[in-house]
Amino acid sequence: MKILKKISLCLLTVTIGTSLSACNYNNNGTNKDSIKNIKIGVTLYRQDDAFISAITKELEDVAKEKEGDSNYKITINVVDAKGSLTNQNSQVERFVSQNYDVICVNIVDRTAASMMIDKAKSANIPMIFFNREPVEEDMERWDKLYYVGAKAEQSGEIQGKIILDAYKSNRSLVDKNGDGKIQYVVLEGEPGHQDTLIRTEHCIKPLIENGIELEKLSDEIGNWQYAQATTKMNQWIKEFGDKIEVVFSNNDEMALGALEALNNDNTIKRHPLVVGIDGIPESLTQVKNGAMIGTAINDYKYQAKVIFNMAYLLSTNGDISSVEGLEKGKYVMADYSEVTKDNVDIYMKSK
Ligand code: BGC
Ligand code: CA
Repeated sequence: MKILKKISLCLLTVTIGTSLSACNYNNNGTNKDSIKNIKIGVTLYRQDDAFISAITKELEDVAKEKEGDSNYKITINVVDAKGSLTNQNSQVERFVSQNYDVICVNIVDRTAASMMIDKAKSANIPMIFFNREPVEEDMERWDKLYYVGAKAEQSGEIQGKIILDAYKSNRSLVDKNGDGKIQYVVLEGEPGHQDTLIRTEHCIKPLIENGIELEKLSDEIGNWQYAQATTKMNQWIKEFGDKIEVVFSNNDEMALGALEALNNDNTIKRHPLVVGIDGIPESLTQVKNGAMIGTAINDYKYQAKVIFNMAYLLSTNGDISSVEGLEKGKYVMADYSEVTKDNVDIYMKSK
């Protein structure tokens, strides 16, 4: 009797098993069993940052495209730390406890990566930092830490070159008061951000190297933000008026904020030249119509692609050696490109 029961139970299991596996095929004939989940967690320092939202959207698009032609279900879970490191640490903790395959971090404070790294490391979950570069000491804490960013020196130098070219083609276009010097102001990003420090240092280099005298009227922190830049520019207009010849802005959002102040002003006879960095769509429009003299494209499409490729490889075979441009086994740094009225159409088309 007992034996009979066992046999019938066994048959039942086999029947259920067979019928289950019979439904285990997709319409296209692929076995559902072979479809695995890839879970990628992404935490942003601020989702309302124009550049960061551009790179994130691209990351989601690339993932969707890849999912369509792979045997994986790819989940990208994006969360906003809203400028708080405490929020970000708990978001990373949650990704770890929910067993994500890879965690991508746009870190709030680049000097404070150690806690989240230790969490991810203890669960053996690789981390890809992007756009905000943790200090080297932290990047050395583990061999499954990566960084995707861009060569900040280049972006500063492109700004300087744009002004230099304008000066060479028509001095009075830049040196409005004809005193042989360029009077300039700098709108700086967040203090401590690698791009702020490096861009500010490099934007004047091409001019200095070409023997052009410069006079810095002022530099102010605008924290990458449009509204803060408008406020600073309004103050400068009051303080320096027509004296300002160039506005170097560490990013486009602040350049656009400065433009707003300039457009609402009727005391300055000739506007200063405004140059930005990023190449976000709105700034390209301003370059096209001549309100901005130029910008440097911070290639978010490329950076998003690299972040995704790395995350995908790390979640599947774990080997990222095929990633192009990988330096020291962990860094990928994108090139910037110069944009002025002369070539802006190319970039407007590709947006
Ligand atoms: C971009 C800025 C952005 C910042 C955020 C920079 O690389 O140029 O527009 O606000 O990163 O971290
Ligand atoms: Ca001058």
